[in-house]
Amino acid sequence: MLNENIVFHPHHVNKEERAAIKDQKPCILWFTGLSGSGKSTIANAVESVLHKRGKHTYLLDGDNIRMGLNKGLGFSDEDRIENIRRIGEVAKLFVDAGMIVLTAFISPFRNERDMVRSLVEKGEFIEVFIDTPLEVCEQRDPKGLYKKARQGEIQNFTGIDSPYEAPLKPEIAIKNDKISVEEVVRQIIDHLETKGYLY
Ligand code: PPS
Repeated sequence: MLNENIVFHPHHVNKEERAAIKDQKPCILWFTGLSGSGKSTIANAVESVLHKRGKHTYLLDGDNIRMGLNKGLGFSDEDRIENIRRIGEVAKLFVDAGMIVLTAFISPFRNERDMVRSLVEKGEFIEVFIDTPLEVCEQRDPKGLYKKARQGEIQNFTGIDSPYEAPLKPEIAIKNDKISVEEVVRQIIDHLETKGYLY
């Protein structure tokens, strides 16, 4: 066995002690939705509000992580699964650091999102479904990728020739086609306040 001589080191300072300094409960705000659904925009806006309130946050974002930690992973099912597995482990470390971590990945498969949920303690995983219809995402097409996918220049594009499995019981679901970013942010901050993540 490769790992048989590895022993886990308990830390002297724990997660709760790290988080208490900032009056927050550590958690993962896991944004999921189609490309162009608004995940990154909303996650950024939520992080700004939390930061202004003196909370300790970090945002892990799809394209950025794929330029570093996950450079080399593509968009086959297998690579997407590995992408989310690594991000889940990183997010777990941020939770252990006492932080509110926001993640903005398509994360198209229910199984992998549930796997990340199971990595952390109950209540530490908040699934935020950015529910924007495919037609709206395709019309927005901020990076011109839907057009390329329709023309066959990109394969395995989510929503076109690669599946997206919508969450069945997300903690937060946002219909993001007729609502302002400010309103969405308000709903998410409300959730964090009423469920005791901010105090
Ligand atoms: S995944 O499915 O969770 O592993 O994807 P993620 O790491 O979030 O990366 C999604 C961003 O990569 C760009 N892109 C693609 N998306 C979907 N399918 C294909 N084939 C693809 N190729 C490149 C796209 O810009 C996604 O960014 P967002 O912010 O979601 O629009």
